[in-house]
Amino acid sequence: MTSPSAARRRSAADAASTTLGAILDAIPFACAAFSRANGALVAGNDRFDEAFSALPGYRDRAQLLSALGVAGDDDGAEAKAPHSGHWYALHWRTLALDKGEFDLLTAVDISERLEALDTHKHQQEKLLFTSRLMSVGEMAATLAHEMNQPLAAIVNYLNGSLRLVGQAGGPAQVERALVAARTQAEHASAVIARVREFVRAREPRRDAHDVAVIAGTVLELLRLEAERQQLRIDLALAGTLPAVYADRVMVEQVLLNLVKNAIEAMREVPSAQRELRIEGRVNLDDEVEVRVLDRGGGLSAADSEQLFSPFFTTKSDGLGIGLAICRSIIEYHEGRLFFEPRPGGGSVFAFTLPKAEGRI
Ligand SMILES: Nc1ncnc2c1ncn2[C@@H]1O[C@H](COP(=O)(O)OP(=O)(O)O)[C@@H](O)[C@H]1O
Ligand SMILES: [Mg+2]
Repeated sequence: MTSPSAARRRSAADAASTTLGAILDAIPFACAAFSRANGALVAGNDRFDEAFSALPGYRDRAQLLSALGVAGDDDGAEAKAPHSGHWYALHWRTLALDKGEFDLLTAVDISERLEALDTHKHQQEKLLFTSRLMSVGEMAATLAHEMNQPLAAIVNYLNGSLRLVGQAGGPAQVERALVAARTQAEHASAVIARVREFVRAREPRRDAHDVAVIAGTVLELLRLEAERQQLRIDLALAGTLPAVYADRVMVEQVLLNLVKNAIEAMREVPSAQRELRIEGRVNLDDEVEVRVLDRGGGLSAADSEQLFSPFFTTKSDGLGIGLAICRSIIEYHEGRLFFEPRPGGGSVFAFTLPKAEGRI
């Protein structure tokens, strides 16, 4: 026999669960009320049953949460139902009715939203990847591929020629020219090898490098060109310039591009005014800053806006990808590449690189 007071309690609980059930049924996602006193399920809507009734112990708050792998007080948790694979955002609220207090659980199915996010992220990554390939890579990759073989052949022919000249005791100028040609071809091969690596998104090899050595290589490569244009390149590096943390060939490539642009900018300038300087110093941010200064025509404000956009060129024979590639290389190195007008006329192109100290 149940006592009258127990019967009264039960009917109060039934009434509460009926009212609650009616309210919960009107809610468009899984929703359930648990007793504050003992954690038992008091009422749940159909969506709640659909979502969780296959889980053992789902009528008990603690058991349900442990089946979903979340802590009891973890409001806003995202949980995966192990039987269905659906994801739910779980929220708890206290519901005070005159019949007592309940813990109200809402479980919003977020599987579709997560899937959409996933797809979006995937597409975003694909887009980034393609745009990167398009801007620096695709063209470079094709060129690199096409040029690899002929360059190797050129180096072989030059070695053969050098042997013949040596055997025949040929003129020293010819031998020097052949050695210079071989140096150029080998450098081109090294650059191409790095470009291919870069496009394949592999890590370039960063190490401690002396800017003086890098500049020396670049000047050696440009010696003939500079002679032809009757200009002298002044190298003015601070004596105490610390080593930079960089991929050597990549930085050579950047400096080579900037100096070539500087030489090209002075094509129309009387030779007495052609003044090309490479400066190196530690800047206020404690980075190594390399500056290439010319006395060319400089840049209009409009042009200086587009300077680094791929395929922007003002030259009839230009590709317009030099500066774009330089900038992505320098940014890869956590540095900056920028343009400044040179006082007295001409341009300054400068880039920064981190010091090697503390990085290796
Ligand atoms: N030192 C410079 N002085 C003046 N203009 C420059 C200089 N360097 C670059 N530019 C301008 O930026 C453009 C893009 O340079 P770049 O990316 O190297 O491509 P390209 O040399 O093939 O034209 C050049 O066409 C030129 O108009
Ligand atoms: Mg260029």
